[in-house]
Amino acid sequence: MNIKLSFNDKNFSSRETVVFGTYTKTIETKSKDKEKSKKKTELLFPHWPKDLIETFYKVKTSKNFKGGQGEIFEFNLPSGATIAVLGLGEKEKCTTETLRRETAAIFKQYKKRCEELAFDLDTLLIHNMEQTVGICAEAIWLADYSFETHLSKKAESALKSVVFMSSQTKTKEKKLEILLKKTQTLCQSINLGRDWVNEPPNILHSEEYAKRVEQDAKKIPGVKVKVLGKEELKKEKMGMFLAVNAGSAFKPQLVHLTYSPKKASKHVALVGKGLTFDTGGYCLKPSSSIANMKFDMAGSATVYAAFRALALAKVNVKITCVLAMTDNAIDATAIKPDSIVTARNGKTVEILNTDAEGRLVLGDCLDYVCDLEPDAIIDVATLTGAVLVALGTEICGIMGNNQKLVDKVLASAKDCDEYMWQLPIIPEFHKDIKSPIADLKNIGSKGYGGTCKAAAFLEAFVKKDIPWAHLDIAGCADAQAHLPYNPKHGASGLIVRTLVNYVENV
Ligand code: BES
Ligand code: MN
Ligand code: ZN
Repeated sequence: MNIKLSFNDKNFSSRETVVFGTYTKTIETKSKDKEKSKKKTELLFPHWPKDLIETFYKVKTSKNFKGGQGEIFEFNLPSGATIAVLGLGEKEKCTTETLRRETAAIFKQYKKRCEELAFDLDTLLIHNMEQTVGICAEAIWLADYSFETHLSKKAESALKSVVFMSSQTKTKEKKLEILLKKTQTLCQSINLGRDWVNEPPNILHSEEYAKRVEQDAKKIPGVKVKVLGKEELKKEKMGMFLAVNAGSAFKPQLVHLTYSPKKASKHVALVGKGLTFDTGGYCLKPSSSIANMKFDMAGSATVYAAFRALALAKVNVKITCVLAMTDNAIDATAIKPDSIVTARNGKTVEILNTDAEGRLVLGDCLDYVCDLEPDAIIDVATLTGAVLVALGTEICGIMGNNQKLVDKVLASAKDCDEYMWQLPIIPEFHKDIKSPIADLKNIGSKGYGGTCKAAAFLEAFVKKDIPWAHLDIAGCADAQAHLPYNPKHGASGLIVRTLVNYVENV
């Protein structure tokens, strides 16, 4: 979907459909008798042409439009243009997220039935024009996604183009054009990640996944790709990663990407869990929880999407991106509970539950990226079902060994309107994952605090002086049906924007 900027443009009546924003303002009129003070809600028309307000009031009654959030009221002009009035509710309560959601919702509604959809940005303005363009574009490109690879009949859409109109000067357009391009790259990266997560496990196994990433990454200027297979992982002594792959029909793949601009002052490492399918292994998941485990690779898709968007935007930060790909499958060679393996960092680990596989794969990868001495490490993983119990399906859990880093990532999440909440790692959790017969065991003694104990396990593989944050996206990586800019089913693509924001401001 193409979005065109049209500034110094007041000629909305020649368009097919134009979206105008309205807000409400509640005024309390105080009468002498204080108890009888009345509330009256008025509509606000920021930057609306006067004659359009008049035309609007000729057709509007108090019953057919109140201006509440998400309300849409439509009327036609003699020119044939359709005006879609979008209610954004109380002006003070309208946030960037309100605008993102309502833009996505109205876009999806009109996409089916008009060829050209214009947005009058002056009437939708929030904070400034840059932010308004960024948010509206993001909403549209993320909402325009659907996973149709395996449908014989794809959905038809009438819409050919979206126009962002403004009466502001043409000179602003150039800067906004660059921002628009950047937003498009970001959304394309998110949508590519969504595609990969949604792809079924019989098609997208580790070898196919690595191939697709390599093919895509090769096209990004300044990016180097290295893929480590089974032999290389043996040489690296990644005993935990290999243990998870032991029952698989496909080779483990560690995709190591590097984006290294010449004058970078900082180095950030991103690590992603890429379990193309998690059966649980010998600790087999019951059928109620095994379904959808193709999405256990969402962490890797998230970090790759962020890496791709940042490298294409030529950000001035060195980025290492490590994707750990395998499935967790069963056959005679699969690792059994009670096994003891040796991790890359030399620690011995008793595998008491083969379904706690993500931490094994990630532990070795965290140790691997520590050797590169980055300034910060962030790993992203669908690591625990417990994070859904603790925080619900909408919130990303964050844990780490460095409060400054955690605070920065939390600030980025807030900036991007993505939900994130910190959970603690306490010394007792480290104690709880000690084994009497090995250095560590891969699950805690009791079922409680599963998300934090998984993080404690990961921490054991991070060199102490390197700031590290762990994002558990087991809840929020799956469908977020309440978000109009997300599909009703499948991968959400959340947290990519937060990571991009973090690296841009590192
Ligand atoms: N991939 C799962 C985590 C998961 C579970 C994500 C449910 C989304 C929904 C992970 O590998 C796993 O199986 N974790 C176990 C750990 C347990 C055995 C300690 C879990 O959460 O049940
Ligand atoms: Mn598992
Ligand atoms: Zn898993």
